[in-house]
Amino acid sequence: MTQQSILVARAVFPEVLAKLGEHFEVESNQEDTIWPREEFIRRLQGKVGVFTTGGERIDAALLKACPDLKICANMAVGYNNFDVPAMTAAGVMATNAPDVLTETTADMGFTLLMATARRLSESEAYLRAGQWNKWSYDMFCGGDIHGSTLGILGMGRIGRAVARRGAHGFGMNVIYHNRSRLAPELEQEANARYVSKQDLFRQADHIVLVLPYSAENHHTVGATEIALMKPTSTIVNIGRGGLIDENALAAALAANKILGAGLDVFEGEPRVNPALTALKNVVLTPHIGSASVPTRKAMANLAADNLIGYLVHGKLKRLSINSQALSNRLNDLSFSLSVKL
Ligand code: GLV
Repeated sequence: MTQQSILVARAVFPEVLAKLGEHFEVESNQEDTIWPREEFIRRLQGKVGVFTTGGERIDAALLKACPDLKICANMAVGYNNFDVPAMTAAGVMATNAPDVLTETTADMGFTLLMATARRLSESEAYLRAGQWNKWSYDMFCGGDIHGSTLGILGMGRIGRAVARRGAHGFGMNVIYHNRSRLAPELEQEANARYVSKQDLFRQADHIVLVLPYSAENHHTVGATEIALMKPTSTIVNIGRGGLIDENALAAALAANKILGAGLDVFEGEPRVNPALTALKNVVLTPHIGSASVPTRKAMANLAADNLIGYLVHGKLKRLSINSQALSNRLNDLSFSLSVKL
């Protein structure tokens, strides 16, 4: 039997490529070239599966041009690069990499919160520039973390893990806003109180954004929300760049309307808005929320296992992004039974 062919769109751990190679004919990209879309489509010809990393757009036009494709496995929990309805309509399975990165990404949210509140980047740059020649009473004074109010916008798995750190580790008063309120036992576990979005921006000393990004919540944080924040407060974004109006944020930071911001994600990344890089009161990191070695390995293995599970064994270990919709669409009992929880 000829082997099924898959494409691995970006460089990945060699052991993960080797595992995929045991089941498929694999075209890889260990040079890590960012292929123009036409080239990506050309390389997808004849491929039944693709390993993506969150940056490759899968939409109706691509699916039409790649009729052999059966599954796209994202090595990311976010999947705003997928047009899920188009994938379902084309009968293509969409998988992401949830759970395995929850704690590591929450660690990063907390790292940015602390670095921003305690002005870490700014003070380190000052020291490295040789400007430190005396101690002064107010040098790089920031805000306290312990005992302050932590506001979380987006209370999914990562949001709840950030809340646990704040409540149990730092004695913070945790408030949150989410599309829907959490079940009482989850609120209790996170020690968090539900508030309106406006109250969250008014009351929090430190805000963390952990929402999945979609067209509906584009710039969900803009000038109006930032204007509600306390002058001593900070905001961290570990979701997606498009959640914040970066120009409005940069203007508020430049005018010291808030204490600082910590950003791991950017609109149009890897390009970073020059209005942000020009500022001192912002901590900037290059989308490294899940970047610990064990977690990145777990994410890559999960994406690979999804490809192997679906294409080789005809089943996934857990429901995927669109397995239910796909099952409904196909109205195929054998398909739904083959998706094991
Ligand atoms: C990272 O941003 C992810 O979505 O996994």
